[in-house]
Amino acid sequence: MSTIPNQPTRILIVGTGAVGAFYGSRLALAPQTLVSVTCRSNYSAVLSSGLQLDTHSFGSYHFAPHAVYPSISAAAQAPHPFDYVVVATKALPDVSDDSEMIAPVVQGNKETAIVLIQNGVGVEQPHRQRFPNNPVLSAVTVVSAQQTSPGSVKQNRWTRISVGPFLQGGIGEEEKESELKQRSEKANRRFVELLKEGGIADAEEYDEKGLQLVRWHKLAINSSMNPSSVLSGSTGNSRMSLDPELRLHLAGCMNEIFQTAPKVLGRPWPEKLAKVDADKILKSSERNSEGLPSMLVDWQAGRPMELEVILGNPIRIARAKGIEMPRLQSLYALLKMASIRRQEDQSKAKL
Ligand SMILES: NC(=O)c1ccc[n+]([C@@H]2O[C@H](COP(=O)([O-])OP(=O)(O)OC[C@H]3O[C@@H](n4cnc5c(N)ncnc54)[C@H](OP(=O)(O)O)[C@@H]3O)[C@@H](O)[C@H]2O)c1
Ligand SMILES: *[C@@H]1O[C@H](CO)[C@@H](O)[C@H](O)[C@H]1NC(C)=O
Ligand SMILES: *[C@@H]1O[C@H](CO)[C@@H](O)[C@H](O)[C@H]1NC(C)=O
Repeated sequence: MSTIPNQPTRILIVGTGAVGAFYGSRLALAPQTLVSVTCRSNYSAVLSSGLQLDTHSFGSYHFAPHAVYPSISAAAQAPHPFDYVVVATKALPDVSDDSEMIAPVVQGNKETAIVLIQNGVGVEQPHRQRFPNNPVLSAVTVVSAQQTSPGSVKQNRWTRISVGPFLQGGIGEEEKESELKQRSEKANRRFVELLKEGGIADAEEYDEKGLQLVRWHKLAINSSMNPSSVLSGSTGNSRMSLDPELRLHLAGCMNEIFQTAPKVLGRPWPEKLAKVDADKILKSSERNSEGLPSMLVDWQAGRPMELEVILGNPIRIARAKGIEMPRLQSLYALLKMASIRRQEDQSKAKL
């Protein structure tokens, strides 16, 4: 955190895709914030024209980042350290280690808070291990957004983002008071304030276990619907929810998560989340005939899927506590092998 008064808050967005561009453009509207971005494939488009946002919630507007960097090492040359490094890449720990990637902008700056806006569970652990003295903030969003062309991002609906500090994962006992805990909570509170100042009225502040419960709850949808959508031959959420056998299967998967998370985290579901049960989710999915889960879109495009953070990690975290989630384990085993086989076929086709 900037301790010198009137110093701007400096934010770096890493992975300026749909989610990174949307929240980055809102943070930039908070007073006294400078939001810079790193871009990979879209560097030249974003450098020359900035980002164009077409949003349901705030209309269309242009976002000119404070600085645009082609890489993390370029961002590490900035004259000031960043207060927040916001990671909004797809979470693919089996493909690349994001904590290693961001090391040049974090190492040596123990005040830099790392914010992870990614799906799934267990995404924080590599950052916690590599940066033991930096605040790590964990964020879950329900936004629906996609990149439409270089430098253009469309937000279809929803803005909610839930943010909480990450100390050791909320899996053990309640975290003891510590200097890192205090700094993490302070960074967390400030980040939520900045989001609100940028117009995200439903940015929500959580404690560690509370945020992990939100993560697991979102997982109930993503770990049931998304792999099933791929394995059932590219079926959308609505059709799956209306099919009697698949509906039983989906509810069974969701209930594994609903029963497991409170045992893993040692805290019951808060009333607000407990109300949203399998039946509610399936009923609302019946009406959702528009979008396809991003896991299916990635599968169809031959890209890696967020399989480890959506299935592998929760299965392993539960297993370490002596709990099996057999329906999800089957989905994981089948889809993982399908993905390995697809990759083998792709490399053969290239020969
Ligand atoms: N989109 C949604 O509606 C939504 C909603 C809720 C949660 N989420 C979650 O939010 C996260 C981000 O999703 P997204 O939809 O924003 O993904 P996305 O549009 O594909 O954006 C990911 C961005 O990260 C960049 N990137 C990936 N790996 C990188 C690396 N190693 N180095 C530098 N840049 C890298 C990509 O750059 P390139 O273009 O160069 O590949 C891309 O710009 C995911 O965990 C997703 O599940 C998304
Ligand atoms: C970046 O460029 C690629 C290739 O043109 C495009 O598919 C993608 O949507 C773009 N992303 C952004 C953030 O504009
Ligand atoms: C998670 O579920 C939501 C809601 O169905 C969907 O929009 C999103 O694409 C899913 N994420 C992944 C990684 O498939």
